[in-house]
Amino acid sequence: MRVCNGWHRFLLCIPLLLFFAHMLSVLELHQNPSAQELHRKQPKKFGHLVLGPAAGEGLHDRLQCQGVKALNNTHFSSYNSNFGSHIAFVTVFATFNPTVDRQVNGRSSDLLTVGNTSYNKLERSMAILNVFINFIQVTMPQSNIIILTDPASGLPVHRDRVTLYPIQGEYSREKLMLQRIRSYIAFLETRPEEHSQWQGQVYHSIFTDSDIAVVDDLGQIFSYYPNFDVALTFRNNKEQPLNSGFIAVRGTPDGILRAKVFLEEVLKIYSSKYMKASRMLGDQLALVWVVKSHPSFDAKRFTRRQAFLDDVAGASVLFLPCLMYNWTPPEGAGQFHGMPLDVKVVHFKGSRKRLMVESWNFLSSSSSFDISDMLCLILKSGRTKYDF
Ligand SMILES: *[C@@H]1O[C@H](CO)[C@@H](O)[C@H](O)[C@H]1NC(C)=O
Ligand SMILES: *[C@@H]1O[C@H](CO)[C@@H](O)[C@H](O)[C@H]1NC(C)=O
Repeated sequence: MRVCNGWHRFLLCIPLLLFFAHMLSVLELHQNPSAQELHRKQPKKFGHLVLGPAAGEGLHDRLQCQGVKALNNTHFSSYNSNFGSHIAFVTVFATFNPTVDRQVNGRSSDLLTVGNTSYNKLERSMAILNVFINFIQVTMPQSNIIILTDPASGLPVHRDRVTLYPIQGEYSREKLMLQRIRSYIAFLETRPEEHSQWQGQVYHSIFTDSDIAVVDDLGQIFSYYPNFDVALTFRNNKEQPLNSGFIAVRGTPDGILRAKVFLEEVLKIYSSKYMKASRMLGDQLALVWVVKSHPSFDAKRFTRRQAFLDDVAGASVLFLPCLMYNWTPPEGAGQFHGMPLDVKVVHFKGSRKRLMVESWNFLSSSSSFDISDMLCLILKSGRTKYDF
């Protein structure tokens, strides 16, 4: 920097220094992508259904579709009005303080529309809960639905066979999955007392996420597999072979007690090992840890499709394939190669929730009320990310 020696030359150098400062800030800008670039990198979420090809085309044991018309008769043609007797669906539902809705011209800027109804953020989660109830009341009309909530939530749900069950706890977004296991345990603790009033009748519980559609009778698992206490759903996925969105518990005093001990073990592992896991994953990781820590457990069975039974943490645990009991529309490449004809539960995880509402609207507005056709709609549009 010999040019910059001496007083006169210093003055000459000011523009040069400013130039360098400018170059540095330009470089920095290029290393940190601008907001616009970030926006472009995020996958687009659609505000309307996008139909693509149906996965599983040509496979004889998978649903075949022509447009949204099902070519196969799935087993849904005859609903039995007794389906669901002695079954309670149990879900944890929390609403979060909605961030102050911005208003544009007197209307919320946060509205999304499905069909001819617009929903703000709170109304969207209520819509999912209502559709969850709708599906159960079609396919298992005799079942009861129990919603475990924050006593402070004041949830406006008034439906037949639906009971709100307030449980004190910490329902913040960060703690919700932890609270969920605690609420399940608290719920199971109340069952033996109630059991004495049921005069020997057994009432089973199925704990689920509320973004699922029950599309067939689930009561059969309790008679078809008479020896389990707890049922979980598994898939062929190395990191996350178990999904916590579906847990069935046999309603006998023994079943309830063992399920409670099993969930307490999961809670203990969650609290001691996975508190730092992303808020949605801790319970699943803890579930897998408890199952795999059992010395004779053979994780290879997760790669197959058959249900199997094993003893874990003092409970007899039935492992059911996600393929039938927790089917998720394949996003992107799709791991399921289509939809089996005997699918019983569809799970609208993550950004598929609009599809849940659209599916119900499709079903309830069709004259044939054909669940198979609706499954074609789900199969063809499930790869897309939606905004709801
Ligand atoms: C499903 O429908 C397709 C097309 O009609 C047919 O080829 C296939 O055999 C059917 N599958 C079953 C299991 O009936
Ligand atoms: C919603 O819109 C459809 C057609 O666009 C109409 O047939 C239907 O009656 C509307 N439903 C309600 C509740 O307004």
